Amino acid sequence: MAEPASPAQIIDGKIYAERLRRDVADEVARLRAEHGLQPGLAVVLVGDDPASQIYVRSKGEHSLAAGMHSATYRLPAETTQDELVSLVKALNADPAIHGILVQLPLPKHLDERAVLAMLDPEKDVDGLTMINAGRLASGLPGLYPCTPVGCMMLLREAVGDLTGRRAVVVGRSMLVGRPIAQLLLQADCTVTIAHSRTRDLAAVCREADILVAAVGRPRMIRGDWIKPGAAVIDVGINRVPFDNPEKAAQGKTKVVGDVHFKEAAQVAGWITPVPGGVGLMTVAALLQNTVTAAKRAAGLEA
Ligand code: GUN
Repeated sequence: MAEPASPAQIIDGKIYAERLRRDVADEVARLRAEHGLQPGLAVVLVGDDPASQIYVRSKGEHSLAAGMHSATYRLPAETTQDELVSLVKALNADPAIHGILVQLPLPKHLDERAVLAMLDPEKDVDGLTMINAGRLASGLPGLYPCTPVGCMMLLREAVGDLTGRRAVVVGRSMLVGRPIAQLLLQADCTVTIAHSRTRDLAAVCREADILVAAVGRPRMIRGDWIKPGAAVIDVGINRVPFDNPEKAAQGKTKVVGDVHFKEAAQVAGWITPVPGGVGLMTVAALLQNTVTAAKRAAGLEA
């Protein structure tokens, strides 16, 4: 990868997400016209977490904008495990629904793993069932988690060929850290997964040609943790008080990533902003996964 001059090139998620959503909408139009097939996405939200409500609304709106069928289920916080499992089973059996997403986190009294285990893997557009995690780890086609898929698209657009690059993923969650490490491995990177127990995390990060931050700790990754010219993908979405004391005193908050953007942008070759980077790709990749699931269900794709 040719190293661009400092400061870093900003990887604008808006441009790539818009392009992917347009491609998805074109494919949906073709499927409807040629096969009478309208991909359908069901999103299930339990409880009233404000951030989840925003994400879920956005998923519904973008599905409709792409010409897809969209069904959003908003269940009360006191929903029981049995009620949620019954809904998942009904959606598994519904031929108009090709993708099901259960928004996480679920309220504490619900068993997340048990709910995810009930999802039909062919409709698991979040890639969170063990079947899809196993397919990803085995290098087989499946439905892969949306945020990691979006990150890989941004990396390929910005950096190009990733072969032989040293990649460090900070974070080991099922939703992001583990699956993106698998995708980087599939792209022939040499991959390290770092986490809260990693010794001398800064030194590990400094080895990375590609650094993916997915820890959920605001601005944890500082400029001097970054190798000059590296590609930095910031998956963090953290709400913090404004730096301006007046605004902070009014209780106003803003969203920042896991990377200290101002510092990192002076060192990195490429960097994703927060907001405006990875987050926008997640929904676009979800729409794409739903189209893939619909085509497979209809026998139109292997
Ligand atoms: N909560 C935050 N991100 C995600 C996601 O990608 N999928 C689901 N199901 N829940 C989330």
